[in-house]
Amino acid sequence: MQIADRISKLGTEQAFHVLARAKDMERKGINMVHMEIGDTDFDTPKVVKDACIKAIKENKTHYLPSQGLLEFRTEIAKFISKTRKIPVTPAEVVVTPGAKPIIFYSILATVNPGDEVIIPNPGFPTYESVVNFIGAKPVPLPLIAEKNFNFDLDLLEKLITKRTKFIIVNSPQNPTGGVLPHESLVRIAQLAKEHDLWVLSDEVYDKFIFEGKFESVSTLPGMKERTIILNAFTKTYSMSGWRLGYGVMNADLAKVVSNLINNSISCSPNFTQWAGIAGLKAPESVVTKFRTELKKRRDAFVTEIKKLPKVKCHCPRGGIYLFLDIRETGKTSKEVFEILFEEAHVATLSGAAFGKYGEGFIRLSFGSAPVPRIKEAVKRMQSVWYKIAN
Ligand SMILES: Cc1ncc(COP(=O)(O)O)c(C=O)c1O
Repeated sequence: MQIADRISKLGTEQAFHVLARAKDMERKGINMVHMEIGDTDFDTPKVVKDACIKAIKENKTHYLPSQGLLEFRTEIAKFISKTRKIPVTPAEVVVTPGAKPIIFYSILATVNPGDEVIIPNPGFPTYESVVNFIGAKPVPLPLIAEKNFNFDLDLLEKLITKRTKFIIVNSPQNPTGGVLPHESLVRIAQLAKEHDLWVLSDEVYDKFIFEGKFESVSTLPGMKERTIILNAFTKTYSMSGWRLGYGVMNADLAKVVSNLINNSISCSPNFTQWAGIAGLKAPESVVTKFRTELKKRRDAFVTEIKKLPKVKCHCPRGGIYLFLDIRETGKTSKEVFEILFEEAHVATLSGAAFGKYGEGFIRLSFGSAPVPRIKEAVKRMQSVWYKIAN
């Protein structure tokens, strides 16, 4: 079988492989606690499902413009204008099946081979994978546990070279649960303007902040034109399997990204976009309910996990993950992952799956684990922890 050379540069999102492996275990009759995949176990809100069913019954089942349904882009533009306090028009919105395509398309559209892209590390693995794939150079920006997973502001400046084209920002952050403080966003904005850089602001966890308020780098003066906002219905409305997301970017770039859609998937599904409109128009309580439950889980998890010796738990301020510091155990992330998976039947992710600065950590998602399941997971972890920390 002949495979093109470029494929060797493509990475992968480990969560999907561990999910498949956990499903194999379940087929053998083993009960697994799922903490590997970044999903939530809530039902998609009824108003959203009803709107989708109505759209199908009304035969909204055909092609749409590649950029997305105008009515949907109009609602997204209103939502982003209101929440980010920047004027956004429907021409600046591009609809995609989930958030991931915006990562792929926006990097493909703006970064040349040999350019450099600054990427939070540990960070969502697709960033680095796509940058490598197109022959550009990923430059890791370490996120530091002791700084609440913020980065060193002066280091960011030092990492910028003549080849730097693009910075990726993700807050609240996957996998760490960190939320970047205002001064970090200000520094990113200042450097992006000074060096004429694009900024991809991955805001898929914008509604899941437990302390403080969400802030987008796009809101800062002079940043709207150079920021690509990435968001999705995946986490906010618990719609991972629907595949519904969008990017907000300047109108010229939106045309380029729309042509990439035209050449690859033609358009996003029609009826899901009508469902998206219903989601954006739904009362805020629909999302608040999810956030309240997630906070309850987070608090319970942080309390429970302290029962394990030789771990440090940095309380996540947002998102759906606990990024557990296991450095004191002396074991690698992969070793701990394997013991937990095979012997405790708790599916987690090795921190190293998020980049080299993730080594020494494991990621546990509480998105799909209600409090009793969290307690069960920690109990199982305790039963094998003597093999990890002795
Ligand atoms: C930070 C971040 N960005 C993007 C995505 C991809 O989202 P989607 O499933 O909508 O493509 C995820 C999913 O886990 C994520 O955590």
